[in-house]
Amino acid sequence: MAEKTILRALKGEALPTPPIWMMRQAGRYLPEYRATRAQAGDFLSLCYNPELAAEVTLQPIRRYGFDAAILFADILLLPQALGADLWFVTGEGPRLSTITTQGDFDALKPASEVHDVLAPVYETVKILSRELPKDTTLIGFAGAPWTVATYMIAGRGTPDQGPAHALKAENRALFEAILERLVEGTIEYLSKQVEAGAECVKLFDSWAGSLKGEDFDRYALAPAKRIIAELKARHPGLPVIAFPREAGEKYVGFAKATGADCVALDNSVAPEWAAANVQIDGCVQGNLASSHMVTGGEALVRETQRIVEAFRGGPHIFNLGHGITPDADPENVQLMIDTVRATRA
Ligand code: CP3
Repeated sequence: MAEKTILRALKGEALPTPPIWMMRQAGRYLPEYRATRAQAGDFLSLCYNPELAAEVTLQPIRRYGFDAAILFADILLLPQALGADLWFVTGEGPRLSTITTQGDFDALKPASEVHDVLAPVYETVKILSRELPKDTTLIGFAGAPWTVATYMIAGRGTPDQGPAHALKAENRALFEAILERLVEGTIEYLSKQVEAGAECVKLFDSWAGSLKGEDFDRYALAPAKRIIAELKARHPGLPVIAFPREAGEKYVGFAKATGADCVALDNSVAPEWAAANVQIDGCVQGNLASSHMVTGGEALVRETQRIVEAFRGGPHIFNLGHGITPDADPENVQLMIDTVRATRA
């Protein structure tokens, strides 16, 4: 059997048509997702129900035939497995018990003890590796330590990651201890996903862009490098996608410095710039603005073609610059896919 297109792109091959998947491809813009989520009761019950989590992972594959499926779970399951309380407030987002003192930190579990809570996620991966079409790549994922720490420290999502920056300034030893625990936990978590059948893993550093200068190197780049080195030591040949969102100029050289096989780009960088400065080192993923999935039309077609053409000279996985939003129109997703597949060399 020919190797899967995403795995070929991750090895550095420029394909005539880039393979496609979409961040948050299983989500609220799809009526079938909303129905399964209602059946599960709430979002976390869906994440921890292997049959239903596998079902929602498969829904966008059935509907659109994406080249990859991403495990349905959440980056905040790891802090929960480390002992933080986690719940979701409808219409607002996640809430966690906060970790801001040495006492809070001391109550966390060691990284080796996360697997009991996360066992249902590994079961979801096993079901998916059995049930996915044979040409679809299964992607596992985790949040990067800095991004996960921003939620653990603040107890919620924050516009500027203020509480995490404050802890970094006021008690750097504690801040670094939290990151260290997350590095170890992430290695454990991703390693088990790979053992269960994930063929590639992605690290989501959604808030990497708020780390500047040396902080970026210490708290976005260095943790990614350690996680990737350890995963590749345990699983030789495992491809890894890193997403230091809004890294801007710091995207340059990120793959080489961390050992990532692919860097995912947000839509704040121009594809022509990224082709010249980032794709020269290997595979890139991205980077259509997810707002086009709401607005559609000629602008969607033009921007999709522009991205395919800009990255045509090298390895590229087509994706959005960030997750698709609940107000997106499922027909615009089809228009994007048709446009990518029609824009061939
Ligand atoms: O991409 C996928 O389809 C895989 C599944 C996935 C989810 N979350 C499902 C989800 C992945 C990879 C994530 C990552 C994630 N989760 C990130 C990093 C990527 C990013 O988007 O920046 C972050 C920061 C989180 C934390 C999180 N989870 C927030 C802030 C929220 C609430 C915001 C929202 O969109 O409501 C979630 C909930 C969440 N995670 C949903 C989904 C499908 C929506 C939950 C629902 O059904 O109500």
